Amino acid sequence: MNIENLVRENIKKLQPYSSARESHLPSEESAVLLDANENAFGSVIDDDGLMLNRYPDPNHRALKEKLSGYLGISPQRLFIGVGSDEIIDLVIRIFCNPGSDKAMILEPTYGMYEVACNINDVNVVKVPLSKEFQIDFEAVKKSFDNKIKMIFLCSPNNPTSNLIDATSIIKLAKEFSVIVVVDQAYYDFAEEKTDLTEAGETTNIILLRTFSKAWGLAGIRCGYCIADKEIIKYFYKIKLPYNLNKLTSSKIIEALNKTEKKEKLKSKIILQRKFLSDELNKINGVKKIYPSDANFLLFEVENPKEVYTNLAKKGIIVRDRSSQVKGCLRVTVGTEEENQKFINELKKLL
Ligand SMILES: Cc1ncc(COP(=O)(O)O)c(C=O)c1O
Repeated sequence: MNIENLVRENIKKLQPYSSARESHLPSEESAVLLDANENAFGSVIDDDGLMLNRYPDPNHRALKEKLSGYLGISPQRLFIGVGSDEIIDLVIRIFCNPGSDKAMILEPTYGMYEVACNINDVNVVKVPLSKEFQIDFEAVKKSFDNKIKMIFLCSPNNPTSNLIDATSIIKLAKEFSVIVVVDQAYYDFAEEKTDLTEAGETTNIILLRTFSKAWGLAGIRCGYCIADKEIIKYFYKIKLPYNLNKLTSSKIIEALNKTEKKEKLKSKIILQRKFLSDELNKINGVKKIYPSDANFLLFEVENPKEVYTNLAKKGIIVRDRSSQVKGCLRVTVGTEEENQKFINELKKLL
């Protein structure tokens, strides 16, 4: 499949901004760096040798090298963003012409795909997932037209918490010659998963991952995507020159040296997910609990809005997802103490 055919004409022709740190990094000690209007004397804070007075590497070389080693994937297939939210916006801007092109979103799902399309003046075609929250090929076919440049789906899906069948994702990417964005933000929490990084000859799949969930680093904003190297080139062509700051990069490199800590956090969450699910099961007013491959549970009650408000009054904040899935609230897996408090209050209410 020729990816070039999918890229917007103006992006193909774009002359990207050439930043000062493109070729000369501050670590090249012999160079006298008088090219970027930085502060040569240093910064106002003690920065542990990070040289915060200097702009960061626009090509994320050190971080990509580290991530590449962790994933076993060539750095040429990686792009790093300020959270996966930045990548969602960039992918739309590479492929969809504002005012004319469309993106398909398989719903119910994460709300940012639609918002990012709206910001970019890209029409949204919403297609419901099947009753089991899997890809409904008939529905996709029926709504498909040649203005659609990409399909967004999420696996494990937010808020339904299930994995989308990997074979179906590959089938989708093969049958429809558009970009298929697979958001794997909750991928670490899934038990039986296919990583999709080598999805046959399908060069049109873009996988999104994030450090915000299993790694516990939502506060420093870092996500990445894995894609064909021809697609990755376009991300680097259009992103803001210094999207990723040095503090974030250095912390992510530190995190990638502590993968066993991430595994421990993940195991704790999976254990607590089971506790929450078992406890919810014992409450009569809980009508249904959806099986979860993520770090949250979706459950159905009779009066979701009332339950949501009453929990909030007790200082327990969950997410009302009843506009997306009938009767449903979404609860993130918390610590043992938090989960117990939530269960106690819910028991009183139902
Ligand atoms: C499915 C999904 N993708 C992406 C994100 C945002 O990730 P990030 O923090 O990397 O921007 C979220 C946040 O909740 C999410 O649920």
